[in-house]
Amino acid sequence: MMRDRTVLLGVTGSIAAYKAVDLASRLAQDGAKVDVVMTNCATEFVTPLTFRSITHCQVVTDMFAASEEHDIEHIALAERADVVVIAPATANIMAKLAVGIADDMLCCATLATKAPIILAPAMNVHMWEKAITQENLTKLRARGFKIVEPSYGALACGEVGKGRLADVEDILTAIRQILDRKSDLIGKHVIVTAGGTQEPIDPVRLICNRSSGKMGYALAEAARERGAKVTLITAPTTLPPPADVEMIEVQTALQMREAVLRTVPEADALIMAAAVADYRPATAAKSKLKKEEFPLMQLELIRNPDIISEVRGNLIKVGFAAESENVVGNATVKLKNKGLHLIVANNIAEAGSGFGVDTNKVILVDSKGKVEDLPLLPKSEVAHKILDKVSALLSPAIGASG
Ligand code: PMT
Repeated sequence: MMRDRTVLLGVTGSIAAYKAVDLASRLAQDGAKVDVVMTNCATEFVTPLTFRSITHCQVVTDMFAASEEHDIEHIALAERADVVVIAPATANIMAKLAVGIADDMLCCATLATKAPIILAPAMNVHMWEKAITQENLTKLRARGFKIVEPSYGALACGEVGKGRLADVEDILTAIRQILDRKSDLIGKHVIVTAGGTQEPIDPVRLICNRSSGKMGYALAEAARERGAKVTLITAPTTLPPPADVEMIEVQTALQMREAVLRTVPEADALIMAAAVADYRPATAAKSKLKKEEFPLMQLELIRNPDIISEVRGNLIKVGFAAESENVVGNATVKLKNKGLHLIVANNIAEAGSGFGVDTNKVILVDSKGKVEDLPLLPKSEVAHKILDKVSALLSPAIGASG
């Protein structure tokens, strides 16, 4: 996968710069062409000669000397990169990239590139935790930068905390995932629903569920990575909005229904990862209910419409089934009753699976009865497995009821 691919490795001024030597070596061994750009501070920790000896490629350190000496300039570097990786990434480079400063070769090349960008931060724990660093991180994520988070442990400054450069193996995995990206959804419009709907009782209180939106957001990002136009219809979450995705924010099941039914006529696929409330209060009080007046509160709940069952048309419909027992059996009933092409049976009783966590344990069941039991995986990987199925269903022809 690495062979004949160009990785632009940016190295910034952190004690962890020596680990970038190992990263460069692993990339070169895997067959990648590795262009290295070092900041001035990085050269205080490791010499350019070290990288040049390992990669057998030019190492750029100076914005102005570079084009004369090596016939390389930032646009050429930016254009030929299949992926840009900055490891270690200091708080300084993150701040500069977050606001678009271009005052050295690495910033210029990163600003000029159209390639995906991975940042592997490394710094003192307090610098990492500082609000401004976290704000910059959120901005960078929202702009599509992939972050390989630092790990927890003993830091060079003598402290213990989060700030160590991630394992080289984890950085390599992120690079491989990006280089291995499929572009099979180019020209397709995918609608994803995410989060748990909220059903108001009064202006203060509401009925909700435990969905964090992580599964749906991972799906939206994965579909965008594969080239789809993505509409993310989301109930309230605390997640940063994914880059380059059309967001429609809703609160209630009825609002989600309206947004889904309005957008599906243009779509090729609908994936409903949202946990839609099955019931809502029959009436939502206009002003705050006073507990003194209600020693016993009784709520009348009415059924919400089943959104995915109402969707008609020539599109692929994928539902989720959050189940704690008889997972495949219950999911199969939902698949049939809701007229779906695929259902993602989500075992919420298993550790590390379901609501709120970053991993998920799912079984994919299609309308022909084919069952694929996946191991516990990060939600981003579960998303790609689901999209593999969606992609196959979309091409060459729609293969189930709809
Ligand atoms: O958001 P996370 O914290 O990452 O958690 C992920 C998740 C557990 C919420 C997700 O993986 C999941 O399982 N989502 C579906 C939860 C659910 O509502 O399942 P259900 O069995 O009640 O619904 C079945 C399907 O019908 C779902 O696709 C649901 O979106 C849809 N539905 C349900 C009710 C309704 N009124 N209208 C619907 O369209």
